[in-house]
Amino acid sequence: MAANWKTISVVVVFIATLLLSSPHLEAKAAKEFDFYYYVLMWPGSFCDQYNGDGCCMPTARAPAIDFFISGLWTYNFTTDLPVTRCKNESFDIGAISFLKRDLNLFWSNIKCPSTSAAPLWKSAWNVYGVCSGLCEYSYFDLALALREYKIPLLHTLEANGILPTTYRLYKLDYIKNLIEEKLGATVTIHCNKNDLGQWQLYQVFVCVGKNATQYYYPIISCPKNSKFSNCGEEVSFPPFTLDMLKGTTPLSNNMIEMFTDGSP
Ligand SMILES: *[C@@H]1O[C@H](CO)[C@@H](O)[C@H](O)[C@H]1NC(C)=O
Ligand SMILES: *[C@@H]1O[C@H](CO)[C@@H](O)[C@H](O)[C@H]1NC(C)=O
Ligand SMILES: *[C@@H]1O[C@H](CO)[C@@H](O)[C@H](O)[C@H]1NC(C)=O
Repeated sequence: MAANWKTISVVVVFIATLLLSSPHLEAKAAKEFDFYYYVLMWPGSFCDQYNGDGCCMPTARAPAIDFFISGLWTYNFTTDLPVTRCKNESFDIGAISFLKRDLNLFWSNIKCPSTSAAPLWKSAWNVYGVCSGLCEYSYFDLALALREYKIPLLHTLEANGILPTTYRLYKLDYIKNLIEEKLGATVTIHCNKNDLGQWQLYQVFVCVGKNATQYYYPIISCPKNSKFSNCGEEVSFPPFTLDMLKGTTPLSNNMIEMFTDGSP
């Protein structure tokens, strides 16, 4: 009898251990990432890219005249390869309704024909966000907070004489050094080309520690010799204005402004 109870309790303990440790096993089995590539994009260089369709006014509202967010990608530092689709956790637009105004300003979709940015956000979440370990709200809040509180890219460039213009080219090293000095870490710059075949400043990749949260923004140096680094020595930094966006400004735009920004 005593022996049977002993056997049973051993089995119970064994099963309990299995149950308790299984979430741990699952977490181990999930793919892991080392750092984020936080990708900011200059819309002026999107609009006039070689062989492009130009750019169009988004259906929700006019975007900011600033760098846009084009991604917060979960990556492996050693391989410089993406870590994607770690879980099947569906995208819920309702979870980020408080962030929608800022997302429409800074994570906008100016592709033609005029469209909504929601499919960009959905894909960002399904591909990378689910690997971040953050909930959907925190993931998008982190993306917005990084540019707002930590990476004032346009301001840094303009304060140092790098103004958007079609009249001159800038030395890439000068731009890169300005940004790196400001952030205290190396970045990667990705260019596209305009119709004249000139390189233009298109995307800035800032690397962020995996322990980042919506309140904590550890910037780290990017992997050396990144595959995204492709610009020539001199780059164009073309203007971006709302009148470059084909189509009409959504009616809701002015109303939103009136109710959210109108009062002092
Ligand atoms: C990154 O990839 C390397 C090589 O495949 C692997 O050894 C390493 O464990 C990966 N890093 C993480 C955090 O999974
Ligand atoms: C997610 O679901 C798809 C199809 O339903 C499946 O092929 C894939 O393996 C799943 N991925 C994970 C990480 O569970
Ligand atoms: C977060 O990660 C960064 C880069 O990996 C590291 O330098 C920093 O010390 C970490 N911070 C905390 C609070 O763990």
